Amino acid sequence: MKYAQFLLACITVALLGSATAFAAAPVPHIPEPEGAEKCVEPEDVMRRQHFEFIKHQRDETMRRGIRTSKYSFKECINCHVVKDEAGRAVSIEDDRHFCNACHSYAAVTVDCFQCHKSTPAEPKMGSLEQPERSLAGLIERLETVSGARR
Ligand code: HEC
Ligand code: HEC
Ligand code: HEC
Repeated sequence: MKYAQFLLACITVALLGSATAFAAAPVPHIPEPEGAEKCVEPEDVMRRQHFEFIKHQRDETMRRGIRTSKYSFKECINCHVVKDEAGRAVSIEDDRHFCNACHSYAAVTVDCFQCHKSTPAEPKMGSLEQPERSLAGLIERLETVSGARR
């Protein structure tokens, strides 16, 4: 009887041990976007089908000239930003980039970023660093010019 108990204890330890080993298996860290709660489709759908959506979207845009925004590649990049210590959006060269999270783990390579930007587009006008190029500044100047003409 004692022996059976000992055996049971051994099995329990072995089971617990393998459970721990399983939990400790490396899983990619997938960064969550800040300031957004939902993706364009439910998370599990995105996980399995994101490439179908964007490839399909590319085909529609490139071959038929249809441009919808639901699966826009630019929007994926705009929302899924990962920032570095300095607060700048990291590019696809950086391991921390959202699109690298699973791809480097699963050894998937995509050619998309040879042409597409992997960081959000910079605002074109009105950045704080260039007050003279702000929209408000421009309107002010236009008003001055037209005022001078009057
Ligand atoms: C408005 C912001 C936003 C946009 C645009 C967006 N996503 Fe997401 N995405 C999220 C958020 C938030 C999550 C995680 C929460 C959720 O939706 O369940 C997520 C989850 C995901 C996941 C699953 C990650 C995981 O943890 O398994 C993938 C893959 C993904 N997005 C890819 C894309 C692609 C590709 C596009 C462009 C077609 C895109 N996303 C557009 C916000 C966005
Ligand atoms: C939740 C994990 C995960 C995230 C995050 C993720 N991917 Fe993927 N992606 C995968 C996996 C896994 C595959 C391979 C699927 C297969 O081959 O069945 C894949 C495949 C792809 C493919 C197809 C590659 C091919 O050879 O056909 C493209 C394109 C792609 N992903 C784009 C993106 C982009 C762009 C992002 C970032 C916006 C992204 N993925 C983020 C897991 C992810
Ligand atoms: C050889 C250059 C090149 C490569 C590589 C490339 N694209 Fe594109 N893609 C373009 C051009 C050019 C356009 C049309 C111009 C635009 O809309 O910005 C475009 C448009 C798109 C669009 C529609 C516009 C948008 O923002 O939604 C999607 C989606 C897209 N590509 C996805 C992809 C994906 C996913 C990959 C990788 C599997 C990829 N592209 C690889 C050049 C490329």
